[in-house]
Formats: sequence, C-alpha cells, structure tokens
Amino acid sequence: MGARDVNEGMGRASDTENRPERLPKRLVVGLSGASGVIYGIRLLEALKQLRIESHLVMTKPAQITIAYETDLTPKQVAAKADHNYGIEDIGASIASGSFKTGGMIVAPCSVRTMSEIATGVTTNLLTRSADVMLKERRPLILMVRETPLHLGHLRTMTALAEMGAIILPPMPAFYAEPKTLSDLVDQMVGRALDLLGHEWPMKRWGEDLPTPKRGKRS
Ligand SMILES: Cc1cc2nc3c(=O)[nH]c(=O)nc-3n(C[C@H](O)[C@H](O)[C@H](O)COP(=O)(O)O)c2cc1C
Repeated sequence: MGARDVNEGMGRASDTENRPERLPKRLVVGLSGASGVIYGIRLLEALKQLRIESHLVMTKPAQITIAYETDLTPKQVAAKADHNYGIEDIGASIASGSFKTGGMIVAPCSVRTMSEIATGVTTNLLTRSADVMLKERRPLILMVRETPLHLGHLRTMTALAEMGAIILPPMPAFYAEPKTLSDLVDQMVGRALDLLGHEWPMKRWGEDLPTPKRGKRS
C-alpha cells in the first residue's frame, strides 16, 4: 500500500477536496496589530460585495492600529463582517476544523501572530483558527508586514511555507499604475482573493495593462 492509499484509507482530506472551488463561500479574516489594518478592512468590504460570508477575529493590538491608522472604531470595523468573535473566544465555531470554511486571510499579519502560528502554540482565537487551516489543509494566507526582516523572521516564513501557508507580504505593484492609496490596497486585496479563486476587480498584466505597448521602443 502506497502513502497515497494509506491517506485515502484513513479518510484524510485529499488535495482535491480542499481546492478553493470545492470549499464553501465562507472565509475567516484575521486582523492583527501590524501596520496596514486597511488591508483587512478593505477585504471585509470586498467579501460583502462578493457575497462571501466573512468571519472576523481581531487581536487587541489590531484595535490599537485601527485607532492610529483609520477614522473608524473597532466596533465599526467589526460591523463590516457577517460574524465577529472575541479574541479569547476559543469555543467559537472557527476554532474547530469541523466548521467548514474556504480558508483564512490574516490581513495584516504581525510578526508576533506569524510566529505563534508557526509554532502551533496558539494562545488566542486568531492563531487557533489559523492552526485549524493548516491541520485541515485549507488555504491560509498571511499578509505579513514588517521591515526589515531578520533571519528569524525569514526562517519562520520558510517554516510556514513548508507547512502549506502562503506568505503574501503587502507589496505594492507600481506597474499597475496606482493613482490613489485605495488603488494600492485594492490591488493587494485582489491578489489575496485570486489565491482563493475569487474575482475582485484589479488591473492585470497582459489584460488591462497591455504588455506590447509597453515593450515598444521609439
Ligand atoms: C502603529 C503600530 C504599528 C505596528 N506595526 C507593526 C508591523 O508593521 N509589524 C509588526 O509585526 N508589528 C507591528 N506593531 C507591533 C505589534 O502591534 C505588536 O508586536 C503586537 O504585540 C502584535 O500583537 P498581535 O500579533 O497579537 O496583533 C505595530 C504596533 C503599532 C502600535
């Protein structure tokens, strides 16, 4: 019996079962205390427009960055989600693998939250929910924001990539011709949703941004 047969025999979720198109239109959104809380906020707005059920959990430092970086209160941000959970509520639905979701996006993801997810020593609902994604082989996207990065940060990212997480640092793409801050944010939100098989309007190289014109030299 090969490894594949053993896995199937034990009823383990196969890669096919966890393809984005086969998972429910329901996503977990984690907001942690890194700069760039606007990414998570915009993501919640995008999910509402796309009619994807959102389940939000935010850390206490995220509430502090909301105050520093936006004109909103944490309550107003929470109201953008379909479901909102307290960070200590480890009995919430999203703490269990039996609650099916299409994956999780942590936007933004602080180094502290990233490191906790990498160890599996989860101390709050956000990191527990991320751990569930890894153990259930569901998509986990971490929009890690810190700069510069030391070797420990880089090693932690490698470990997470090896475990199946996707590291998606919010890095603006200037070839997409952003005119406003919203353009930059929306482009990153689009890239995150692309990874989960959802379509969000953004400029695409070779489509909205035709390469031939740009390649021409006078
Ligand atoms: C305004 C502000 C900006 C911050 N930016 C970052 C950041 O970009 N990356 C990061 O890892 N931590 C950042 N921090 C520090 C984190 O909030 C801190 O490490 C916190 O413990 C993270 O906790 P959490 O992961 O539970 O949200 C920032 C803090 C503040 C107040």
